[in-house]
Amino acid sequence: MGKIINKKNMFFPDKEFKKKALINNNSIYKKALKNPTKFWADIAKELYWFNKPKKTFVHKPPYFQWFTGGKINISYNCLDKNLEERRNKVALIWEPEPLEERERILTYYELSRQVNKFSNALKQLGVKKGDVVGIYMPMLPETIIAMLACARIGAVHAVVFSAFSSNALKIRLEGTKAKILITADGYYRRGKIVNLKDSADEGIKGTNVKKVVVVKRAGNQIKFKKGRDYYWNELTENQKDHCEAAKMNSEDTLFILFTSGSTGKPKGIIHTCGGYTVQAYATTKLIFDLKDDDIFWSTADLGWITGHTYSCYGPLLNGTTFVLYEGVPGYPEPNQWCKTIEKYGVTTFYTAPTAIRMFEKEMRTIKEKMSTLQLISSVGEPIDEEAWKWYFNQVGKGNCPILDTWWQTETGGILITSLPGIGPFKPTFTGIPFPGIRTDILNKEGKPVKANEKGNLVILPPFSPGMLRGVYKNPKKYQETYFGTYGNKIYFTSDVAYKDKNGLIRIVGRADDVIKVAGHRLSTGELENIIDSYKKVSECAVIGIPHEIKGEVPLAFVVLKSGKPGDEMKKEIVQQVEKGIGKIARPAEIYFVKELPKTRSGKIMRRILRKLFSKEDMGDLSTLANPESVEELKKIIQ
Ligand code: PRX
Repeated sequence: MGKIINKKNMFFPDKEFKKKALINNNSIYKKALKNPTKFWADIAKELYWFNKPKKTFVHKPPYFQWFTGGKINISYNCLDKNLEERRNKVALIWEPEPLEERERILTYYELSRQVNKFSNALKQLGVKKGDVVGIYMPMLPETIIAMLACARIGAVHAVVFSAFSSNALKIRLEGTKAKILITADGYYRRGKIVNLKDSADEGIKGTNVKKVVVVKRAGNQIKFKKGRDYYWNELTENQKDHCEAAKMNSEDTLFILFTSGSTGKPKGIIHTCGGYTVQAYATTKLIFDLKDDDIFWSTADLGWITGHTYSCYGPLLNGTTFVLYEGVPGYPEPNQWCKTIEKYGVTTFYTAPTAIRMFEKEMRTIKEKMSTLQLISSVGEPIDEEAWKWYFNQVGKGNCPILDTWWQTETGGILITSLPGIGPFKPTFTGIPFPGIRTDILNKEGKPVKANEKGNLVILPPFSPGMLRGVYKNPKKYQETYFGTYGNKIYFTSDVAYKDKNGLIRIVGRADDVIKVAGHRLSTGELENIIDSYKKVSECAVIGIPHEIKGEVPLAFVVLKSGKPGDEMKKEIVQQVEKGIGKIARPAEIYFVKELPKTRSGKIMRRILRKLFSKEDMGDLSTLANPESVEELKKIIQ
């Protein structure tokens, strides 16, 4: 096992690590940047195509396409392609939350059989190529099987995070007009059973969903509606174990995943069959430096993009053995995740800063050796120096590279990180763009900023194969959000960043109203909509403020229409949020105010609210229509 070399707070892999790494010198960057499309075209050749692509990249700003003319199927590449070489290799190790239960281990062969059977089951239910299938599932092998089965028959999956409320599910189902939903009876969360089916029943009311497939997981009582509901096991039992994989056009939609933006409504991000597959495959292989005997564990929930790309598709495309844990990594004991790493000999670990900070707080020193670990990594939010160092010393024992990977739901896969065989790994810096990716940091006028100057992070053509191809049924939003700031050839990430003098990129945070709460992407606008819709609320403003474990938490400022301010009212508002989005969006605090600071044209000045908490200078308040509101706020917050 290699040691990591520390040169003035910049860390590098040592010779031994380098020797074994898939990429260990910088030449790949130069080569890829000279001709990015060729770089990707060469990688694409490592996958199985029914028909080879005719063109690698077609640009019709603001739209672009990759591998046009090619025909591919991601499920075929995840399964059939691996059956030739590694039929009996373990694909998936599923670790249940209750300690008394046994793990489930699926080889590539077994996983393939189950996906084929479920694909036939979906067909029997009338699902056709191009249909949207909703998946509202916890961390189960069946969630992965369902995603792969949809992909196999060319149906478009739209996974909804299982901790989202029925209302959040409903909005997403309405958005896609899905006719079928796959869900479970319930699941374990910190020792309790969550009745998911109840939420699903509520969420499908008034939508187009006519059929519901239910996985029996927790054995809890559910309302089963004959003629509409089907049990997964009964449905798949007698299905044939072969289902031909649909030959999908490279640019056909593979999945839709909703994410939050500046406005009140989540947007459906579109990812395609060809480009996404290539990027998921390449980034998983080269960034996580995967070899045949590695055991990969990404703790990300399948309901988010990290779960799609690195807890499901990426490892499977590489024929990797990977772990899926049903519960939260720090339950039942704070060191549960250490035990899981040791139990399965995990070599490659991927998690979020919030989890790292929580582990640090609960454990401080780790007695488990976790000697199999070779690479540790982080995603989703900025990682502070203290958490980085703790992760490096306590988890990696000073022997593992730490990758701080930057990307977004929209980018489909990692775009910025250091590579493990090259480095450097610099605390709080994510690294440099992946080979073939061109980024820049621009000021408001569109000029590149100097080293150490903050600006807007953008991605330049040819972007990446796995980047979004649109916002579902909302081309205007696609154009405005991503190509509205610097013209239709420059993708604006909505992130603020800067580069150090070596060109390493540090992500500062979002430039819009998106906040990251324990790694979950939420929109303050969406939260405001939910709170505003409560009958006793006149208006509100929501901001995100820093939090030592969760990264950020939402705070709400509420003007009441009726009722009394106080703890009871806070509870009612929290309930409203839980119903509207889910527990993950609960405001950390609710302040009742007489009025919100507004401009003369009536716009709420959230900037002022944020500054009150950061104790920054308020700046010029003369543009406010009601400067006295700030005095009231100061008194309340003290
Ligand atoms: O602000 C950036 C932050 O997360 C946003 C994307 O969120 P989401 O679509 O949920 O995808 C998360 C997982 C890929 C980005 O715009 N973000 C993501 N990775 C990092 C990060 N912030 C700092 N450092 C990172 N490594």
